[in-house]
Amino acid sequence: MTDAPGRLHAAIAELATFNDDVAAGGITREIYTPTYAAALRRVVEWMGEAGLETRLDAVGNLFGRWAGTDAGAPVVLTGSHVDTTLNAGAYDGVLGVLGAIEAVHALRAAGFVPRRSIELVAWAGEEPRFGTGCVGSRAAAGELSRADLDRLRGRDGVTMAGALRSAGFDPDRVEDARIDPATVHALVELHIEQGIVLETGGEPIGVVGAIAAPHDFRLTFRGAATHAGATPMDLRRDALVGAAEAVVAVERIARASSSGTTVGTVGVVRARPGAINVVPGTVELDVDVRDSDAAAREQVVATIVADARAIAAERGLELELAEIVEDVPVESDPAVVAAAQEAAAELGLTARTMISGAYHDAMIMGRRVPVGMIFVPSRGGVSHHPDEYTSPEELDRGVAVLAGTLARLSGQ
Ligand code: GLV
Ligand code: MN
Ligand code: MN
Repeated sequence: MTDAPGRLHAAIAELATFNDDVAAGGITREIYTPTYAAALRRVVEWMGEAGLETRLDAVGNLFGRWAGTDAGAPVVLTGSHVDTTLNAGAYDGVLGVLGAIEAVHALRAAGFVPRRSIELVAWAGEEPRFGTGCVGSRAAAGELSRADLDRLRGRDGVTMAGALRSAGFDPDRVEDARIDPATVHALVELHIEQGIVLETGGEPIGVVGAIAAPHDFRLTFRGAATHAGATPMDLRRDALVGAAEAVVAVERIARASSSGTTVGTVGVVRARPGAINVVPGTVELDVDVRDSDAAAREQVVATIVADARAIAAERGLELELAEIVEDVPVESDPAVVAAAQEAAAELGLTARTMISGAYHDAMIMGRRVPVGMIFVPSRGGVSHHPDEYTSPEELDRGVAVLAGTLARLSGQ
């Protein structure tokens, strides 16, 4: 299957050492940090070893090209991301980049010659350092403006424009990262499932039929930050207690969704002033609601907002709603799905057609070009966590299916 068994697994382990938070036990490698830049330089070396011609675009998306015999034909893109969320695991995104490099090695070893060029990509900033994920692929899709770069801001208050500058990029050139969709035949992304569906079903491969998309928004409850000792219980306007009711409402409303597939999460709570002897006066909740069924998702969002308003009114709180991002679920392209299914079948691997609950750069690019995704199992469904794990054998199967898919798409 490959000319160097163990190379991919060693590379994944090595990339995991580019880590800004060793003490926490997981991996933190956020976009535009020096640690990210160092990791990307290593990826450039690995792409070079696979004979790929590398280039970095205006926002830091890294491409590695294997030129095809038909230089003018729209290319086949494949890749994922090597940035991580906070205290993360070693496989999310990384597999889609390092696994694609391994697929190129395997295809070369098998004597394959691509007709369409095959371009590998490590998208910049799939994880939401600036509140919104997939900033690199958004720029490539022409969906990130210069103004967005000043608007998008991280936990540390740094804007995306500022982070770009400190990483040596010019934010004024963001438009240069746009990819003309006419130059892309198809995009396929290999990724760990990050859920428990494949493991439960005992299936080695998932072929993604649709990618669920998030609608993220912020609910800010404002009450009165008064003395925790001197303010009687019946005279308080405690923003955190109201927000807590809203958190429970998010769970209840998502569970009752008409599609049965909506998920709702409050992943960020900011309570101010944050002192043990002060009633919380202001609380922000960052809410993430996702579904592959956009109508069901929007119904859930509307109900959550209505409930939050009712809770605020009941408790004498003010409520402010701010949109963060509203993405559109994307369907995979039938030809990319077919190529992946055929590749799996050729290897004798059962492939389940499934939905991706996580978002991916393929979701963003899927608005412009034909896309598809290949999943491998995640042990225990654990992801965005240090315990994220996929066995070497499972990784190798994913790479083999990716190689077969690329060969098919490149020849089309
Ligand atoms: C991607 O990391 C996601 O949150 O789905
Ligand atoms: Mn992720
Ligand atoms: Mn990912």
